[in-house]
Amino acid sequence: MRIIRTADLKPGFVVGRALTDEKGNILLQQGVELTQRYIQALETKGYNRLYVQDPDLGDDDIEPPEDLSPATRAKAMLTLQRSFAEVAKQLGTVKRQSFDELLEACSSETARVLMGSKGPLADMHEVANSILNEALTHSTLAGLTSMKSADSHLYDHSIDVCVTGIMIGRTVGLTNTRLRQLATGCLLHDIGMMFIDDKVSRTTKIHHHTRLGYELLKNNDDPDIMAPHVALEHHERQDGSGLPRGLIGSNTIARDRSLRPPIPTLIGEIAAVADIYDILLTGAANQDPMPPDMALNAIRQAAGTHLNRQVVEAFLRVVPVYPQGMEIIVRSEYLHNYSGIVTKVNPTQLDRPVITLVRNNHGKAIPAIAIDLVDKTDMFIRCKGL
Ligand SMILES: [Fe+2]
Repeated sequence: MRIIRTADLKPGFVVGRALTDEKGNILLQQGVELTQRYIQALETKGYNRLYVQDPDLGDDDIEPPEDLSPATRAKAMLTLQRSFAEVAKQLGTVKRQSFDELLEACSSETARVLMGSKGPLADMHEVANSILNEALTHSTLAGLTSMKSADSHLYDHSIDVCVTGIMIGRTVGLTNTRLRQLATGCLLHDIGMMFIDDKVSRTTKIHHHTRLGYELLKNNDDPDIMAPHVALEHHERQDGSGLPRGLIGSNTIARDRSLRPPIPTLIGEIAAVADIYDILLTGAANQDPMPPDMALNAIRQAAGTHLNRQVVEAFLRVVPVYPQGMEIIVRSEYLHNYSGIVTKVNPTQLDRPVITLVRNNHGKAIPAIAIDLVDKTDMFIRCKGL
């Protein structure tokens, strides 16, 4: 299988991995041959990429890993969707206009019942636990987050941030209790977005959804369990230029007790890295999705000013630069401009995978050439644009 941009799909390609919508319905079954109509439908729904059976690898085709099994993802998706819909219904988000009114609704007794152990959010801990248990069986991330439609975006993004957050959290040595808080907090980090009018400015959006999410999640008998600070702090920046409070970070994992509060929490800083990683890979408003190698470069560059430097270092230890199934092109002298697929990730050298070249520098099919980049230190590759 290889991953292909929707814009590069052609009729005749065969679906490699089934595509389900936000309600769990299968949109495209594995093995289906794409037609122009299917491709157009994918574009209309906002999907930006798809796994297809590899046209060049034939019997040697590979099965790229997934961060979560389809069953766990589907359950998480349905729980998030049901819970968010119930909260929106009970708090009347659509009718309310002003930020103050919304703030009041999030701190109300009605909201407190919704966030309690008998409310619709109660299932979130179980979902967070199942994601946690599954994610911890993997040594690295898959390297690509989920394929999202316009309708599934908020839920898929929350699940992806949760998985990435957990993998970083384990690497920095969080306790199980903290990991569970981080997982639930990441699942709910953008819950405040349900109150936000699409037409407001980006700054207002960030201010409002972080504050409203925080008010809602802390309106609980045991606010710790919902990790409201993840909602509040995931748009903060180390240099103090973030929102909503402009907190200044220490760029370290160890908490320095001599620093005067308020300082960002570590789980908030982890969520900030996981959040930006998925946003870059998925493509923010009016921006194309970045290929993984470029996204990781952008994150490396943001370390120190925007993102906690040591958290970024931990993240880079669990994320492949060239995920399995990714189309790549050779950019060094030897076999320059030959292209192919990442066929295996080396878990100890996440930037030096095994590649299989299937096209020459003129784009013509060639007999497959497999190269382990661990042994070929003078050879460099780039991901093809996603
Ligand atoms: Fe956010």
